[in-house]
Amino acid sequence: MAKTWLITGTSTGFGHELAELLAQQSDVNLVATARNTDKLDYLDQYDHGQILKLELDVTKPEQIKEGVKQSLDKFGTIDVLDNNAGLGYFSTFEEADEQAVRYMFEVNVWGLSHMTQAVLPVMRQQNSGVILGVSSDAGLIGEASLSFYSGTKFAVEGLFESLAEEVKEDNIQVTLLEPSSFRTDWAGRSSQKKNTAFPKDYQVTDRALRTYTGLAGDEPGDPKAAAQLIYDQVTNHMDELPLHLPLGESAVRRAQYKFSDLADKFEQLTNLAAATDFSKGE
Ligand SMILES: NC(=O)c1ccc[n+]([C@@H]2O[C@H](COP(=O)([O-])OP(=O)(O)OC[C@H]3O[C@@H](n4cnc5c(N)ncnc54)[C@H](OP(=O)(O)O)[C@@H]3O)[C@@H](O)[C@H]2O)c1
Repeated sequence: MAKTWLITGTSTGFGHELAELLAQQSDVNLVATARNTDKLDYLDQYDHGQILKLELDVTKPEQIKEGVKQSLDKFGTIDVLDNNAGLGYFSTFEEADEQAVRYMFEVNVWGLSHMTQAVLPVMRQQNSGVILGVSSDAGLIGEASLSFYSGTKFAVEGLFESLAEEVKEDNIQVTLLEPSSFRTDWAGRSSQKKNTAFPKDYQVTDRALRTYTGLAGDEPGDPKAAAQLIYDQVTNHMDELPLHLPLGESAVRRAQYKFSDLADKFEQLTNLAAATDFSKGE
């Protein structure tokens, strides 16, 4: 039986590549959503009734509600939710524009949360489903110039690690996708950049910002390959998906370094940490 996928942010990047791949599969119904559905014309050539294009801004709860309703009206189920829509923000910590950063949290954290809350009752009722959260390697590792972006993705990691525990008895799988740098619009139009007013005093941040934004258009990660991998994993391993799925070699390497270093340091701190517990028997 065909599985219904609902994806947010399918105008460009990962969302576009995954939607285009899914549109060509015989066993998939696709709900492709975007803030502006004019950007989804690329799907028309594949449409034989199995595609629903919807206007959906993840910061608009009424559009989320309506999107879930229309998906169910047309296909009857939602089997896979891909929370893909997201933005970036580069600046020093203290120069970040609060309004812009709050908006990024609206999209990356609250958008993902509201989408997931809207779809969860459907999946609990079905007693099955897959929820993907596009996090980032920046959701595992902090980086100069990306503090608030990392803040959104660390939030996504915490939300979804906890959610995975809550829903496992209802046969719902949760997977955090953790890409490194991929060739999408993210580092370009989808990320605001605030060049520091103090380049001399903030060389580390300034260098990091220039490195990231200088990489735009030349990132090592291929979003088509990522789309294929996501489709294959979800289709072939629906009941045993990993909670964390890094994408791109550097995502794995950097996380391995961070967590093995952290494990070593925590080993050395075990006795110190234990000293703050009540003595046994108290
Ligand atoms: N590319 C990377 O290196 C990288 C690495 C790690 C994680 N990620 C994450 O990957 C996800 C997808 O980004 P991408 O790399 O594919 O970049 P992208 O090409 O810029 O795509 C971002 C998508 O999010 C959509 N979007 C933005 N705000 C939205 C809103 N309020 N409601 C609905 N959709 C919204 C955009 O739609 P519009 O066309 O309307 O702007 C666009 O479709 C993001 O969560 C990003 O943080 C990317």
